[in-house]
Amino acid sequence: MLITAGPTHEPIDSVRFIGNRSSGRLGIELAQAAAKKGWRVRLLLGPVCTPLGTPPTPLTPPTTSKGDSRLSVARFRTTADLQGLLEAEFPTCDVLVMAAAVADYRPKIDADALKKAGGKLKRDAAGLTITMEATPDLLAGLKGLKRADQTTIGFALEPAERLEESAKDKLVRKGLDAIVANELRTMEASSIKASVFVRDGRRIDTDGDVSKAKFAPWLLKVIDEVRGDEGARKRK
Ligand code: CTP
Repeated sequence: MLITAGPTHEPIDSVRFIGNRSSGRLGIELAQAAAKKGWRVRLLLGPVCTPLGTPPTPLTPPTTSKGDSRLSVARFRTTADLQGLLEAEFPTCDVLVMAAAVADYRPKIDADALKKAGGKLKRDAAGLTITMEATPDLLAGLKGLKRADQTTIGFALEPAERLEESAKDKLVRKGLDAIVANELRTMEASSIKASVFVRDGRRIDTDGDVSKAKFAPWLLKVIDEVRGDEGARKRK
């Protein structure tokens, strides 16, 4: 199972970036729960930070009886880094869970001007205008590579009033098998109320609000359901 988690940081210069507030927590919990359940997991993890006073995110991989790790981690910073990792690793996975909060835009960098500035832009009282360019849609880009035996799961964070419509649109546009839709309020909350829309038309909802810790095992069961009996059997 290939899982992506966390934000992307898109550089403005060598020390500054534009990012987002994703903590990566959901993807990390999912990776650990999946490894515990017997999946061999590859976690592609973005530049996540831990708040002061809390221990660093535990990433000690559970091990199999032979002592080899079930969970390995590769780190990325930018959308381009993640794109490179996905191109290399997607062909070898059975399931991709795309929980990363990938930037939709990145600063367009004037390489010559940046070089002249020594890599770090000087403060200018007149202000700074940053032109943004669209990043590639990574999931949509994998559509052509996807084999029939592979399952791809996306995420959508949407305002409650257009949750279903937007999620279903992304499901089709990105060629996914299922999409996990969360309301915007999920970002700050300690619990999650999610709806999974499946390609075959099924809709699977959490039983109201569930804690973020309980959400990971719930989603793993849903992934087995989406893949059908064959998916669960193949792993044994
Ligand atoms: N995603 C991606 N590549 C991007 C942006 C998003 O692969 N450049 C993935 C996310 O990891 C997520 C899914 O697409 O699994 C939906 O992300 P979202 O930001 O909601 O979708 P967008 O296509 O960016 O749509 P919009 O921002 O217009 O709602």
